[in-house]
Amino acid sequence: MASNEDKPAVKEEENAGSWKDAIFNPRTGEFCGRTAKSWGLILLFYLVFYAFLAGMFVLTIWVMLMTLDDYVPRYRDRVPHPGLVIRPKELDMLINRSQPVQYTRYVQTLESFLQQYNDTEQERNEVCTAGDYFDQEGEVGEPKKACQFKRSSLSRCSGLSDSTFGFAEGRPCVLLKMNRIIGLKPRGEPYVNCTAKRDTPVQMQYFPSEGRFDKMYFPYYGNKLHERYVQPLVAVKLLLNKEDYNTELTIECRIEGSDLRNNDDRDKFLGRVTFRVTVVE
Ligand SMILES: *[C@@H]1O[C@H](CO)[C@@H](O)[C@H](O)[C@H]1NC(C)=O
Ligand SMILES: *[C@@H]1O[C@H](CO)[C@@H](O)[C@H](O)[C@H]1NC(C)=O
Ligand SMILES: *[C@@H]1O[C@H](CO)[C@@H](O)[C@H](O)[C@H]1NC(C)=O
Repeated sequence: MASNEDKPAVKEEENAGSWKDAIFNPRTGEFCGRTAKSWGLILLFYLVFYAFLAGMFVLTIWVMLMTLDDYVPRYRDRVPHPGLVIRPKELDMLINRSQPVQYTRYVQTLESFLQQYNDTEQERNEVCTAGDYFDQEGEVGEPKKACQFKRSSLSRCSGLSDSTFGFAEGRPCVLLKMNRIIGLKPRGEPYVNCTAKRDTPVQMQYFPSEGRFDKMYFPYYGNKLHERYVQPLVAVKLLLNKEDYNTELTIECRIEGSDLRNNDDRDKFLGRVTFRVTVVE
């Protein structure tokens, strides 16, 4: 009886002993089956290995940066298509005509945005030939001239004759511009066409006339070379009436008349923009 009871106890001890040995064996000094020296070698190997990888990485990046030109992006056999953006940068506008404080922030945004288009400031820029690209040859790294775009050309949307950009009268202006893309030369005659997504059309007025982006503002040579460059703008004034109030109007604007893409399935800001406006009294 006694021996029967002892045997399992001995076995348990042995099992426990070999299990503990698997982690740390005090007789051989092995930890997880390896000696300290063996562990040290493994650690050293990985240290050298990863240091080598990191070195390769840094070297590759460095070589790549060395071959980059300061002025022109290196690879641009395919010039990307520009997005269309609006100012104020607000895709959901609520204009409460009896609360000027509320729409004043839109007005202020437009006013400060148009500072760079100040007529006096723009007179320092070139008077370019409308309808032609403003190609500028010259030495590599030579600064480029910029064509003038005066805010007064936005007429009723310039903020000069009407300092509230039409917001006070419930016929707001929004400004549209394309993203800057170096080297872009749109073919055709790009212009902005805005439509309201509803059955009856909304009357709109475009400035400059017909909402054209003149070719003379292309190509753009990049921030560094083309320091005084300003993007051409198109202003759209929504000629709303009292019947249009209190309903949310969805307006979609697209760049048409050119090879610029405006119907990309994946990017709904490529060559177009959709925003909502609600005017209340
Ligand atoms: C517009 O402003 C007026 C006056 O402050 C207010 O009574 C009204 O509720 C506002 N309307 C909306 C839709 O916010
Ligand atoms: C344009 O700039 C001039 C001076 O640089 C300034 O006197 C004038 O008030 C500015 N015009 C507007 C509309 O901001
Ligand atoms: C503007 O777009 C609408 C809807 O796509 C179209 O019916 C209209 O002819 C376009 N207008 C111009 C001037 O291209």
